[in-house]
Amino acid sequence: MSYMPCVVTVGGFFGDEGKGKILAYLAKKDMPSIAVRGGVGPNAGHTFMYEGRTYKVRMLPSAALNKTTKLLIGSGVLINVEVLLQEIFSFDTSDRTFVDSQCGIIEKIHIDKDNEEYDLREKIGTTGTGTGPANADRSLRRLKLAREIPDLSVYLEDVSNSVNNALDNKENVMVEGTQGTFLSLYHGDYPYVTSKDVTSSGICSDIGIGPKRVDEVIVVFKAYVTRVGSGHLENEISGQQAKENGWLEFGSVTSRQRRSSPFNLRLAKKAIVLNGATQLAVTKLDAVFPECSGIKEFDKLKPQPKKFIEDIEAETGLKISLIGTGAEINDIIDRRERF
Ligand code: IMP
Ligand code: MG
Repeated sequence: MSYMPCVVTVGGFFGDEGKGKILAYLAKKDMPSIAVRGGVGPNAGHTFMYEGRTYKVRMLPSAALNKTTKLLIGSGVLINVEVLLQEIFSFDTSDRTFVDSQCGIIEKIHIDKDNEEYDLREKIGTTGTGTGPANADRSLRRLKLAREIPDLSVYLEDVSNSVNNALDNKENVMVEGTQGTFLSLYHGDYPYVTSKDVTSSGICSDIGIGPKRVDEVIVVFKAYVTRVGSGHLENEISGQQAKENGWLEFGSVTSRQRRSSPFNLRLAKKAIVLNGATQLAVTKLDAVFPECSGIKEFDKLKPQPKKFIEDIEAETGLKISLIGTGAEINDIIDRRERF
């Protein structure tokens, strides 16, 4: 595999592309010295399955199972203190988790507002986790920061400094985006978006690295598109049809049924440009082509799924270096050696 010190991974559609699984796999395989999370906050849920057990993280990076990887949260990310402490406890990571002292803090008032305001809960269909109202308070310069919270005092660090120092030392750093490109406040389907920019540039800003520090940008697509909450979804199919297709999903934070459509090449191309993608990942190929389930070598794919991947590569001009073929983090075709 080529040496890739700084890899930024982001979602190419509306979130829930399977970034958690890709990131958990990359973490196990590459053993980065740091995994750092950008993005909005606990509105995102990353799910991954390892040795038959399902794990979910809403605050920690998806490398949480790695015993030697330092787990960081960048200053642009909002923290729900209770959720974070619970995850640190259940993954037993208190010796290696650090958050930036300038992370914003979500309080009950933000969660209440997110659930009570018609425009947020009904019209936009937010996750109700308080992230939008907290980011609004941050813009108004009245949001509490992590440095003011005694329960967090042992976890505080200058995350930007740690990440930049690690990169100076040529260590591998995994930068984890959350949500997806078209939920970006600036580039997405406004107003049906989240409360921040979540493209690769926004994620780098969240953790405090400059654009020239990034070596690879992996944009993750699912083999079909899903979205939760309101907003436009081109070629949307019914829940019944999604069920018949074998890809009906429910939200990992809110349990809401996800809406879906077939893979959207037009959106994929736009996401590639917005994020400056250098390589792609496609997840859940087995949901569309059940015969791919668990396959780990590209040459073992049947003609149809192979063509699906090769058509996307031909249309986008980018390599699909990682292909998800099942729920377990090792159910993956890793073609990085090829490049
Ligand atoms: P908010 O981020 O909770 O304010 O919700 C705004 C919109 O973004 C809603 O449509 C949410 O369903 C969506 N959203 C936010 N985070 C995620 C995510 O991690 N996955 C999928 N959708 C998300
Ligand atoms: Mg998710």
